[in-house]
Amino acid sequence: MSAKKQDLQAPKGMHDILPADQPYWAFLLKKGKTILEEYGFERIDVPMVESTPLFVSSIGEGTDVIEKEIYSFKTKSGEPLALRPEFTAGIVRAYIEHGMHVLPQPIQLWTWGPVFRHDNPQAGRYRQFHQMDLEIFGDDTAAADAQSIFVAYKILESLGLRNLIVKVNSIGDQNCRPQYLKALKDYYRGRDKKLCAKCQVRIKTNILRVLDCEEPECTEINKNAPQFMDYLDTDCKKHFTEVLEFLDEIKVPYLLEPRLVRGLDYYTRTAFEIFIEPKEGEEIFPSALLGGGRYDKLVQFLGGPKAPATGWAMGMERVILVLKKLGIAPPESHPQPKIFIAQLGEIAKRKSLLLFEEFRKTGIVAKATFGRDSMKSQLKISHRLGIKYTLIMGQKEALDGSVILREMDSGVQETVPVEKIVDLIKQKLRK
Ligand code: HAM
Repeated sequence: MSAKKQDLQAPKGMHDILPADQPYWAFLLKKGKTILEEYGFERIDVPMVESTPLFVSSIGEGTDVIEKEIYSFKTKSGEPLALRPEFTAGIVRAYIEHGMHVLPQPIQLWTWGPVFRHDNPQAGRYRQFHQMDLEIFGDDTAAADAQSIFVAYKILESLGLRNLIVKVNSIGDQNCRPQYLKALKDYYRGRDKKLCAKCQVRIKTNILRVLDCEEPECTEINKNAPQFMDYLDTDCKKHFTEVLEFLDEIKVPYLLEPRLVRGLDYYTRTAFEIFIEPKEGEEIFPSALLGGGRYDKLVQFLGGPKAPATGWAMGMERVILVLKKLGIAPPESHPQPKIFIAQLGEIAKRKSLLLFEEFRKTGIVAKATFGRDSMKSQLKISHRLGIKYTLIMGQKEALDGSVILREMDSGVQETVPVEKIVDLIKQKLRK
């Protein structure tokens, strides 16, 4: 089978992360990792594929992720597997499989990596994208929800993002949700023909999702739909009030969003998403940078012990997109080379490789292009990189154990014994 032109392009909705973009990723990961570790979160890594039924049971059959977006396949031995469309299901599986409930609770975990959804690609919506993910197990308190939101907020803020807003809602639990769903059904009865085509189906498969549909005909009808808040039972209402009180206390700006229901079935009580709030006339990025909430029943539902849980996942491409839009440049993650080593001839090339290693060992970052033989082009590269000192080793220098030190700005050159060059450069750099 030979590759055609289209095979030489990354699959639709999937992207290379080129060297020029790596500093953004390094920046985001460094900030995230630091804050997560400071808050006591431990890293976990789960496989990129899990059994398809694990995802179907966790995320829910009627959801877009399972109905349309999951990349599922059968292995040669007939096992049904799927590329992970998110982390939560895999981490819950790991929590159960490794008996983490017997450890002192809460268990605080984080991870990051690629996830896959066969979505319609557009700005900020891809088929392979990356999530940074946090999960807390074994803590049913509102404080855990608030802390999870706070950590998310702090990570985004530490990147230089401002005007962040947490949209938050409670979607109740198994005790009060049936009453709410009934109220919703009653509300849409008679109005269903005016909803968009998708919502006319959602009404039967996943009525909650009608609420956050952004089609104009649906938003109009949704304006007067019953709100979860009015149907929460005493315990859920108390939990939600406490979450809001905590957010007030830790000064995280939030907005009550009665139509926020999230796209995955496992949530109970707290549901939230974080957005950038554009200033008047500004268009930064309209979709959620991060979303999550509480899922108190999932561990048990999948056959594990009773273990309430809460967490979130950040869309890392979306955050990087926003950093770029706002002109927030990450610090250079590659150290700038301090010297350039230019060489001419076979012996010089070999000796320069050793010299390069000498500098590396002393912590001085060197740059060389060993594949190039023209001195002119090597000096040109050194100049383009703005390197102050170039070491030149030709056939003569290689044989008599010396090296020429050229100061690039002035063009002044001196010949130095090779065993003295590292110390001399150290002295010069210190000045
Ligand atoms: P989610 O809302 O499906 O939640 O995804 C989390 C974030 O991933 C979104 O807020 C968005 O930033 C990003 N995202 C989602 N779809 C795409 C896409 N097609 N392209 C680019 N970015 C995307 C979850 O995945 C839950 N597992 C979060 C969670 C963890 N809840 C509890 N624990």
